[in-house]
Amino acid sequence: MAQDYQAVKAAILAILKNPDYDDGSIGPVLVRLAWHASGTYDVKSQTGGSNGSTMRFQLEATDSANNGLNFARQFLEPIKAQFPWISYADLWTFAGVVAIEAMNGPKIPWKPGRIDDDDDSYVPKNGRLPDAAQGAAHIRSVFYRMGFNDQEIVALSGAHNLGRCHPDRSGFEGPWVPSPTRFSNTYFKLLLHEEWKRGKNSVGVEQYNTEDGDLMMLPTDMSLLSDPKFRVWVDKYAQDKNLFFKDFSAAFAKLIELGVIRGPDGVALRKYAVAVRARM
Ligand code: HEM
Repeated sequence: MAQDYQAVKAAILAILKNPDYDDGSIGPVLVRLAWHASGTYDVKSQTGGSNGSTMRFQLEATDSANNGLNFARQFLEPIKAQFPWISYADLWTFAGVVAIEAMNGPKIPWKPGRIDDDDDSYVPKNGRLPDAAQGAAHIRSVFYRMGFNDQEIVALSGAHNLGRCHPDRSGFEGPWVPSPTRFSNTYFKLLLHEEWKRGKNSVGVEQYNTEDGDLMMLPTDMSLLSDPKFRVWVDKYAQDKNLFFKDFSAAFAKLIELGVIRGPDGVALRKYAVAVRARM
């Protein structure tokens, strides 16, 4: 069957708006799926990453960091059924970039060719994704492990301009910005200019809120303000939306390519790569 990615894109666009879900769009949770599928990557051992779509397996799906991503995976099932030739690994990452662009975000380069693992042999250890209750040192250790630098960490964190926290998923509560289905640099502006107060939310978890309680920040978001090296980029992105869009696009494109090694035909070679490493 011809691999018509434009048709897949149209099908994703057709399900994005959903009046019964959160703020009326499934876009944000699709972006979180693309990120969590990719963000397990470890540059040293070359394990984890989006290739293999290992989150299909219980071992990874039940990592507490992935709570709620079952919704995103289920939303995409009808599209997988309609286009059985696309791998889950490609579909999840593609849905993320299609959603960002559709929510007024930048265009993000995306390449197909990822494959799905047959079993859970390549599931990375649980606990590789960041813990929102921690600070700058923790975020650095997680994102440096993936191969990112400080500027890319801040750019990627701007994705919190989308969506919200759900007490029954992460324990945190509320959206970061007033229009959480529209991508912009508002997150950085609010981070700088609102008065954030630390306190317990309705389920007793410590987070930061505005005075009226409508908007929130995670402890990790606040560390972008307090850490001087991160702060430089918060200031730049708050002032310059075009710069933020350009840097976000590049960093997200890099994120979804982590660990994807392609052969001459463009198809990813996970098993080949692992076999090569085993010989080194
Ligand atoms: C310091 C690193 C990060 C931490 C600690 C973190 C933590 C969180 C937490 C706790 C939630 C709420 C989940 C829920 O309750 O539903 C969340 C949501 C979200 N995160 Fe992050 N995140 C980080 C980085 C990123 C990155 C790099 C991206 C993408 C580039 C991203 C995209 C999102 C999106 C779009 C949502 C909203 C999901 C929804 O509305 O369902 N996050 N994040």
